Amino acid sequence: MFGPPGTGKTTFAKGVASRLGWPFVELFPSRLAGDSPTGLASALREAFTLVAELDKVVVFIDEVEEIAGLRQPRTVTVAQGVTNEMLKLIPPFRERDERLLICATNSVRELDTAFLRHGRFDYVIPVGPPDDEARQAIWDRYLAAMPHAELDMAAIVGQCGLFTPADIEFAARRTAQLVFERVIFDRGEELIATADVLRGIAATRRTLTSEIVIPEEAGRGQAGMTWGFAVDGLVEGMGELPRWLCFPLVAAGWCERVPGSRTRPRDWPASPAPVGRP
Ligand SMILES: Nc1ncnc2c1ncn2[C@@H]1O[C@H](COP(=O)(O)OP(=O)(O)OP(=O)(O)O)[C@@H](O)[C@H]1O
Ligand SMILES: [Mg+2]
Repeated sequence: MFGPPGTGKTTFAKGVASRLGWPFVELFPSRLAGDSPTGLASALREAFTLVAELDKVVVFIDEVEEIAGLRQPRTVTVAQGVTNEMLKLIPPFRERDERLLICATNSVRELDTAFLRHGRFDYVIPVGPPDDEARQAIWDRYLAAMPHAELDMAAIVGQCGLFTPADIEFAARRTAQLVFERVIFDRGEELIATADVLRGIAATRRTLTSEIVIPEEAGRGQAGMTWGFAVDGLVEGMGELPRWLCFPLVAAGWCERVPGSRTRPRDWPASPAPVGRP
C-alpha cells in the first residue's frame, strides 16, 4: 500500500488481520538490524524464518522503502544487499497459503522497480483521503464517545474535505479540548454542538494540501493523488477486490493522470461502499 501519512495504511493492515482472525506481526526495518547497518539483511532473513513457523500470519512492514529501496545500476552498497535479500524472501513466503505480506510506504517512488514487478505482490493499492461517506463514518466513530447535541453532519463532513483519518482524529480531540475548556473556565454548555466541531476542524492543519491532490477530483469527493504510479496489470486486478477492501482507496480515474501509467482502472467503484463483511 502506498499513500500519505495518516491515511490509515497501518489500521487497514491490522483490520485485515482481525477480519481473517490471523496473528498480526509487524516488522520494523529501523529496529531489525540493531546497531549494525550491515546486519539488516541477515536480520530480515531471520525474521522471515521465525514467521515461517506460524501456520497463519499477516506480516506487516511499514516504511518498506528502507528495505526495498531503489538499487542504483553498477554500484554495490549495503542497502542494495538488503533490497536483494528482501526480493529473495518474497517467493518462498508466497509458497504457502494462509500467509499474507502487507508492505506500506509513503514514498512509492523510492521502491526498487523489481519489488513491484508481477508475481511479487498481488495488489498494489493506493490509499488516499477518505470520501464524504467515509469521513462521516470516521466522525461517527469519534463522536460516539463524546456527549453531543444533534449535529449537522453534512456541514461537518463538508468542512473537512481532504482530511485524513488522522486529521479527523486530531480535530475530534481538539473539539473535546475546546468544550472541556468552556465547561471548566466558563461553566459553559457541556454538550458538543455543530459549531464546536467546526471550531475543532478550523484548529486542525490538513496533512494533504490541494497541491498534492488533484482539485477537480477532490471536488467530487474522490481525491486523486498526483503522485504514485500504477503497476501494469496489477491495478486492473483491483476491479475484482471485494468491496470492503475498497475503503479507503482513492477512487477511479487518478492513475490515468500519472506520468508513465498505462492502466485505466475504469471499473473501480465510483464511491466505495461502507465497510461490510466480504
Ligand atoms: N478507517 C478508519 N476509521 C477510523 N480511524 C481511522 C481509520 N483509519 C485510520 N484511522 C485513524 O487515523 C490514524 C492514522 O492511521 P494509520 O496510523 O493507520 O495511518 P498510516 O497511513 O499508517 O500512517 P503513516 O503513513 O504515518 O504510517 C490512526 O489514529 C487511526 O486510528
Ligand atoms: Mg502506518
